[in-house]
Amino acid sequence: MKNINVGIDLGTTYSAVAVFDAATGKVNILKNDIGEEITPSVVYMEDGETLIGQEAKDQQAAGNVNTCAFYKSMMGDENFVRYLDGKPFDAEGLSCVFLNKLKAAVEKQNGVSITGAVITVPAYFNEAQRQATIHAGEKAGFKVLKIINEPTAAIIAYGLTGGGKKTAMVYDLGGGTFDVTIAKIDGAQVDVIATNGDHQLGGRNWDKVLVDEIVDRFEQEFGVDISANKEDYTELVVRCEKAKKQLTSVAATDITVRSEGYTGKYTITREEFEDKTKRLMAETIMLTEKCFEELGGGFGWNSIDEIVLVGGSTRMPQVFDTIQRKFGKAPKTIGGKVDTIVAAGAAMQAHLCVAGSITLAPTGGGMKAAQFGGAASGGMATLTINSDSIRDVTSHSLGMLAFAGDGASIINSIIIKKNSMVGKPYSKRYTFAGEQLEAYVLQGESTSPYDCTLLYKYVISGMKKGVKNEFTIDFLYDQNGVVQVTGQLASGTPLNVSKSTVSESVSEVIDRLLREKEEAKKRAKVDITFAIDTSGSMSGTPIREAKRSVIEFVSQLGDAADKVSLIGFANSSTWLCRDDAPRAIERAVNKLDADGGTNADPLQYYGQAKGSGDGRVLIVLTDGEWFRKDDAIRSSDVLKGNGVTIYAVGVGEADYKFLERIASPGGAKKIDIRQLVETFKEIADTIATEASAAGSYSTLG
Ligand SMILES: Nc1ncnc2c1ncn2[C@@H]1O[C@H](COP(=O)(O)OP(=O)(O)OP(=O)(O)O)[C@@H](O)[C@H]1O
Ligand SMILES: [Mg+2]
Repeated sequence: MKNINVGIDLGTTYSAVAVFDAATGKVNILKNDIGEEITPSVVYMEDGETLIGQEAKDQQAAGNVNTCAFYKSMMGDENFVRYLDGKPFDAEGLSCVFLNKLKAAVEKQNGVSITGAVITVPAYFNEAQRQATIHAGEKAGFKVLKIINEPTAAIIAYGLTGGGKKTAMVYDLGGGTFDVTIAKIDGAQVDVIATNGDHQLGGRNWDKVLVDEIVDRFEQEFGVDISANKEDYTELVVRCEKAKKQLTSVAATDITVRSEGYTGKYTITREEFEDKTKRLMAETIMLTEKCFEELGGGFGWNSIDEIVLVGGSTRMPQVFDTIQRKFGKAPKTIGGKVDTIVAAGAAMQAHLCVAGSITLAPTGGGMKAAQFGGAASGGMATLTINSDSIRDVTSHSLGMLAFAGDGASIINSIIIKKNSMVGKPYSKRYTFAGEQLEAYVLQGESTSPYDCTLLYKYVISGMKKGVKNEFTIDFLYDQNGVVQVTGQLASGTPLNVSKSTVSESVSEVIDRLLREKEEAKKRAKVDITFAIDTSGSMSGTPIREAKRSVIEFVSQLGDAADKVSLIGFANSSTWLCRDDAPRAIERAVNKLDADGGTNADPLQYYGQAKGSGDGRVLIVLTDGEWFRKDDAIRSSDVLKGNGVTIYAVGVGEADYKFLERIASPGGAKKIDIRQLVETFKEIADTIATEASAAGSYSTLG
């Protein structure tokens, strides 16, 4: 049996499967087991029997409540559950059942075995909806080659075959979703530049208008509420869809309904229908114009060369008329193949995924979508597309929870803007003195996190504590439009990034983070000791700068400095102040007086009096060679081993190698005396950051 890779348009109301035939350069729409090109996306389950497609839809039309349709619009929604045959299903599970049966039906009818599939999703689908689609496909037995946006698939199948350079817009109104996508097309190159939509707006909303109208009329006539009877209501929903379709070709239609022994027959004219659904139509135009606005630069209807209508609902005359009125020209309608063009594009993409490139057969010219016999630019030469030919954009901005400038509130800091190209990483650089960071990633356009969807919590680790770790985090929308996060240290070493879903709500997370920050601030008290070289060579500028730097340091550290101490060392070491409040340091530094040589070991002196323990920091400032280097190295090892963080700052004649030896990792600096204030400020900053990172969270913003 032939193994094939297919494209699947998993629609809200109808689905289609297609395959690209490399031998002919054409797409074939694969029929299901009853010989149909499109299969209703309906699932029926009763007494251990599972049916999909037309048979399931017939059950639904007969009012059987063991059927489920429109589940695609609930994709990724954790709260959606539907019981069929006594078993609970979410939208992913229902999609899985449907896809699995569809696969079997198509395989049987065409005598093939399907291995891989490209599945399409509305461009406006978010992370959870995309992931749910991938999982449903995998569980249904497909190797999911890729997830692509429905309008992009339509452009691949349509736009590539038109040839030439143009700006095209796809207006895709299906059964449950509306997407608008704008792309620049240049020969085989397709660059999507903007997309917008609503995954709760589609043909079913038009159906609902009719349903509500009939429910009202029936109630007025008989005083019976049909919506209270599930079976009658389900039946009515199917009838109204039928009536809606009839209104596409006739000016009026009758809807007959029965409930509680009463029969009502109601006439609806197209005019009435169009009038009652005006606001739905206007909604799609509003979303389209919002897409223009997002593109900026005065983009408008007249910036577009071609508009293509995709999706079964674009058959409604009101869609064509409204677009024509706005656009000033007639939109293209892909020869009535509105419901299979998306599957055709997905099939081409599937071939592209496995073969790396795809060559379309030349045909006789004119507007020919690939599925109608392949096509090429101008209808003459063959057209080759490779994997770089199609560049898509993201329909949702990606952001992260970050403390606002005031430090007292949390915002959504946007990292990847909506309509940015997918497949391209966005890097952010960070410096952090803790070992581990948490980042909360969101999707949405607002800077207020409350208006966004919280996606994941990432825990980033692999940094060293107490050192200023420099690293970058790369945020990426992969080719499926799914978020990927990676990180690496400045040295190139990759960081560990672990991802998990968050069970708390956005506001719970925010409240907790603010609380944790407050607590960390309270907890983050450090005990700081300065050991300042007072040997003769420090007299004059050095000692003056040292005094200034210490004072700046303490003010920079603010609340985090709990206790401060000062040791002066030359021929011997002396406490100038010990375990005092931060303001005492000002008085103490003035006692610093330079005289003598560097005979002392201030590290040992410090250890004897203060012992050790976490949260203790010793900052040594010196300008020359020490007589007792070996002693100092031994003393520093003991201190560091016991949790004391040592910074060793050298000016003048100081020996950097020695400083590096006595300091904690990354804590040695050799600088010019004029940089001392800055250097001390930096150290204070690192200490404060590390202190507040004592809580597990630190914002990446
Ligand atoms: N002749 C017609 N007149 C009006 N509406 C129609 C007509 N034919 C189909 N439709 C409507 O088109 C919708 C189905 O279109 P399509 O198959 O493109 O959507 P889908 O792929 O199932 O949904 P989505 O793309 O939103 O997930 C249904 O709402 C259907 O009622
Ligand atoms: Mg569709």
